[in-house]
Amino acid sequence: MNILGIETSCDETGIAIYNEQRGIIAEALYSQIELHAEYGGVVPELASRDHIRKVALLTEQVMQDAKLSGADIDAVAFTQGPGLIGALLVGATFARSLAFSWECEAVGVHHMEGHLLAPLLEDEKPEFPFVALLVSGGHSMLVDVKALGDYTILGESIDDAAGEAFDKTAKLMELGYPGGPRLAALAEQGRPGQYRFPRPMTDRPGLDFSFSGLKTFAANTLRSCDGSEQALADIAYAFQEAVVDTLMIKCRRALEQTGHKRLVVAGGVSANQSLRSGLASLMQKRGGQVYYPRPKFCTDNGAMIAYAGYCRFKAGAREPLAIQARPRWPISELQAS
Ligand code: KG4
Ligand code: ZN
Repeated sequence: MNILGIETSCDETGIAIYNEQRGIIAEALYSQIELHAEYGGVVPELASRDHIRKVALLTEQVMQDAKLSGADIDAVAFTQGPGLIGALLVGATFARSLAFSWECEAVGVHHMEGHLLAPLLEDEKPEFPFVALLVSGGHSMLVDVKALGDYTILGESIDDAAGEAFDKTAKLMELGYPGGPRLAALAEQGRPGQYRFPRPMTDRPGLDFSFSGLKTFAANTLRSCDGSEQALADIAYAFQEAVVDTLMIKCRRALEQTGHKRLVVAGGVSANQSLRSGLASLMQKRGGQVYYPRPKFCTDNGAMIAYAGYCRFKAGAREPLAIQARPRWPISELQAS
């Protein structure tokens, strides 16, 4: 069985094919980073237009790489939401039409379920149940995952997502777009103990996050520092330390509350090395294990959509002929089938 996956929810056009026996057999990713860099963030209309330019070309390329034709594809899976409406509509329209012309099924995939299931593509994969920490540019949440489609949100950000906080703080520091990885790189030059950022919402019970205050704290700290390279690196260090610490405290609580031994971390911020080493030591202390997608599947990609599409297809999911995108779509609305 072969499932073609198409991701177009934000600023990456990702295409991949998942084969039931062999796993991901072909993939292509086009990032729009350069296009949006001069604006300091994603411009939705430009994103949609660029997806239009790339989606068919990349699909052809992936089909050629896999040496498959339309007749070999059992279903075309696409990101149905959440995301930018225009960008989603490009993928949904293309995928639904392709499935129609190939006379195969179409499957709409929830983008965050794609991230959540991405670690299952690895050789060393988690079994259900587990706690999932999903940290991307648009979402931060802790989910109790009992089985495919059995998701209980334990906590989520009440304002900025973790990736968004990284990006906005990086913008204040004039590090360019996308800021998350650049801020993380700068933090490596920072010294511990020079600045102390708050750990938002950790002084009270609960699993929700709030990251927008960190950005304001960074703005104030930047105004009062001497502006040297070293001071910027020290601030980046303290900011990252606060985000990582906060995420670790909430992960520990979620594991205690659910009794689960396994933690899955996915979404763009899961590429952060400081977060990875912090969670590794947390899980070692607790006698549990932490699972990640391989680095290139942490950020948006087609492979996670092909795989989630495969899981959903096996569970019976089928799209009607109508072209549907859902820019707002809580993950808690998903069902097992
Ligand atoms: O999952 P993703 O590719 O897209 C969304 O679905 O949002 O996540 C992108 C986010 C951006 O905010 C980016 O700055 C952040 O992930 N990110 C990082 C790192 N790599 C990507 N944040 C911190 N450290 C990193 N190494
Ligand atoms: Zn994403």
